[in-house]
Formats: sequence, C-alpha cells, structure tokens
Amino acid sequence: MPLRVRLTLWYGTALAIVLMVFSVVLYAMTARNLRDAVDQSLEETATTAVRSLEERGFLPLINEEELLSQFPELTRIDKFFQIFSPSGTISIRSPNIKQHEVPLSRTALDTAIAGQSIFESAKYPNEPPLRLISMPIMYRGNLLYIVQVGTSMESVGETLHRFLILLVVAIPIALAVSLAGGWFLAGRALRPVDKITLAAQRIAAGDLSQRLSMPAAHDEIGRLAATFNNMIGRLDASFSQIRQFTSDASHELRTPLTVMKGETDLVLRRPRALEDYKSVLESNLEEIDRMSRIVDELLFLSRADMGEVKLESLPVGMESLVEDIHRQATQLGQDRKIEVVLGTVMSVVVQGDDLRLRELLLNLVENAMKYSYQGGKVEISLLNDGREARLSVTDHGIGIARADHKRIFQRFFRTDVARAHTKKGTGLGLAICAWIVDLHKGRIEVKSELGQGSTFTVVLPLVHSTA
Ligand SMILES: Nc1ncnc2c1ncn2[C@@H]1O[C@H](COP(=O)(O)OP(=O)(O)OP(=O)(O)O)[C@@H](O)[C@H]1O
Ligand SMILES: [Mg+2]
Repeated sequence: MPLRVRLTLWYGTALAIVLMVFSVVLYAMTARNLRDAVDQSLEETATTAVRSLEERGFLPLINEEELLSQFPELTRIDKFFQIFSPSGTISIRSPNIKQHEVPLSRTALDTAIAGQSIFESAKYPNEPPLRLISMPIMYRGNLLYIVQVGTSMESVGETLHRFLILLVVAIPIALAVSLAGGWFLAGRALRPVDKITLAAQRIAAGDLSQRLSMPAAHDEIGRLAATFNNMIGRLDASFSQIRQFTSDASHELRTPLTVMKGETDLVLRRPRALEDYKSVLESNLEEIDRMSRIVDELLFLSRADMGEVKLESLPVGMESLVEDIHRQATQLGQDRKIEVVLGTVMSVVVQGDDLRLRELLLNLVENAMKYSYQGGKVEISLLNDGREARLSVTDHGIGIARADHKRIFQRFFRTDVARAHTKKGTGLGLAICAWIVDLHKGRIEVKSELGQGSTFTVVLPLVHSTA
C-alpha cells in the first residue's frame, strides 16, 4: 500500500476513534446534565409545596381546586403532582395526569416512611418516560403525607435525540473533510520523496556525476537529499579512484614488460655472444624484481583495504628503532654520498607493530634520500612533547609543490619533478605509510616547498594516552 494511503488511513482511524470517544462522552454528559436539571427543578417544586403545606399547618387537606388556587406553582403545565396518604393511596392529584394512574412505588413508600426523598423514573407504553420525586411530610416524627411531583422527560428526550442526529451527521462530515485534508497534506509532504526517487532513478541509470537539486531546507527531506548527494559523491569518487588505480597499475606493470620484450626481441634477432645474453637476462631480472615488488605492494594494499592485514599492538621503543634505521640508511646513502644524521632523539614508547613502524620510517628515509641531491643531508629526529610522539625526516632535496601535498599519498601518484629526478619508484610507498599511520591512530604531516626540501612528520599517540 502506498505510504500516502497508509498515512491517511492511520490518521483517519485515529481521528475517528477520537471523535467517537469524544461524542460518547459528550452525549453521556449532556444526558446527565439535562436529567440533573430536571431533578433539581422537581426537587424545588416539591420543596415549595411541602413548605407551603407545613405553613398551613397541614390540616385539613382541602380539595384540589382550593389547593391549586393557593399554590399556583403546583399547576405548571410541565409538571403534575399527587399527594398520597401514608398508606400509599392517593388523596389529591393535579388534573394534568390524564391518561392513567401513576401509583406510588413500594420503594418510594419505604423511603418516605424512613423520612427520605427519592427520585424515580417510570415508563408507560407509548409515552415518553416520566421522572418523579416523592417527598415525605413529617410531623413529630410521623409520616403525614407523601408529595409526589413528576414531569415528562419528553423535551429532554427530544433534545438528546436532536443532539444525537447532529453528532451522527456531523461526525462523518468532519471525518470526510479531515481525511481529504490528510490526503492532501500527505501528498504534499511526500512529493519531494517522489522527486528524490525519480532523480535517484535517473542517477542509477546514467552517470554518477548527477546530483539531486533540492531546496536548501534543513528538514527531513533536505537532510535525505543531502545524505543522498553525499553518498553519490563518495561513490563517484571511489569509482573514479578505482578506474584511475586500474589504469595506473596496468601502466606501471606494462613499462617493465615493454622493456623486457624489447630487449629480448633485440637479442634474439641474431646469434649473440654469451655475454650479451647474460646482460639481457640480468636486465630482465631487474625488471622482474621491480614488477614483483609492485605486485607485492599492491597485494599488501588490497589486503589492507579488505582488513585482512593484522597489526601487532605492543609497546614499541621508538628510540632503538630510529637508531637501527639510521644505521641502515647510512649504509644505503654511501653510494650517493648522502649523509644521514640523527637530530634530537628522545625516549618514546608507542603502542603498535614494530615491523610496520620500521617499514614506515624506512619508506620515509628512502624517499628523503631518493629525492635529495648528491651529497645532500637527511635528518631523522624523534620528539616527545608529553602527549604525542613526533617522528620527523627532513631532506634538502627536490621538494613537493603545495598542490601535490595531498596527492602524494595516493597510490601510484608521483610528481613530475620526482619522475624527472629518478626513474626508480612506483608511487606506492607513501600510500603504505599512510595506511600504517592510520592503523596506529596517528597522522602524517608534510612541510615542503618545491626545490627547498621536505619534512615528513609522523605523529603518534604515546603509549599511556592510548590506554
Ligand atoms: N622526500 C621527498 N621529497 C620530494 N618528493 C617526495 C618526497 N617523498 C615523496 N615525494 C613525492 O611523493 C611521491 C610518492 O612517494 P612514494 O614514496 O609513495 O612513491 P615513490 O617513492 O615514488 O615510489 P615507491 O613506491 O618506490 O616508494 C613521490 O613520487 C614524490 O613525487
Ligand atoms: Mg617512496
């Protein structure tokens, strides 16, 4: 069932129940109030009559005409009265009781004997119901007479009947009007949802560059549209990232393959000296090494993406780690006369994976050496500011343009300056670094100007602050 129908039905049902309960309560209260008013008026009349009779000294009871002329309030047309003797027989009754006798009931008599008044209802066939009050007249503790005043409930019945008809007619009308209003409002409220659905269908069928154009209202619909656009944006970004990644990866793998094919073709063209074959095979081996490194790194990154790479979480003394890498790097730098020095190295313990942290630092130091000029200097330092560990690698090499500071962490991205500077490198190192830093709940910062050198700083939480 469409939401609009369901909303309207729910709304209609709730409203119908409320109206029904309201009407029943209203009807019951009105009926009760009307009856109370009748009772009150009966009681007043009876009290007046009793008081007048008492003033006259009760006796002797005269005939009807005389009584009526003395107490005109007893002859009001809408009421009749009777006076009974203590035995329950009628002594006097007003002339407006026409059709039949209205005898005193047993209960009324008993109550009167006990000195109490009583209200009763009586019903005779083909007549509106009657309401009666029976009030005793006592003299020195003895029951002298019983005055009964009665009235027809006809007008009350009519009023109630009219009220009932009004309710029966008005409620369905009110309900119908409200349902129509509800239907209209539900339709209006849901119209933007329809719009979003249509737009979403268009986006699903076509390109991901489309966005929903929605009013900037900050209501539920506005938020839905914003969330939807956000989601499409992220999908778009990750799809294009995947496309880029695939094309980059193929490209990176094709280059060594092309080199290998070219050299092999060339050497096979005619018989060669053994030396030539050897040198081609050696060159091929280099390319194969390069390719398997790329494939290894890609495999590692994709496993990392899928959450399949688990890290240790143990306290790691960074000081000795830095010293180890320094030693390793000093050796690597000898060929190109690059000096690797230690700056300030404080004692720092972080929580994490020793091997991955080594890999991280080595990647940064390798980059620093790779992108330094011959005879350059690379500095490693480790600071502890009480809250975080700051591990920095500084070089004075080719530097990175501002615009590229973010992109160097993307897979396969290499700056043009870097490509011109050295052929070595695939652009995966920093992506792996970023991943390692991320899993250690740290961050990596780059400070660099083109041609001025770079500083990469890894900020890691200290061991006590991660606990
Ligand atoms: N210290 C640095 N100085 C200048 N540019 C740098 C430095 N470190 C990184 N870059 C730039 O960032 C790019 C990405 O670095 P990354 O380490 O990911 O790749 P790579 O060193 O080129 O290849 P590899 O995958 O072998 O590490 C580099 O190609 C280079 O353009
Ligand atoms: Mg690198």
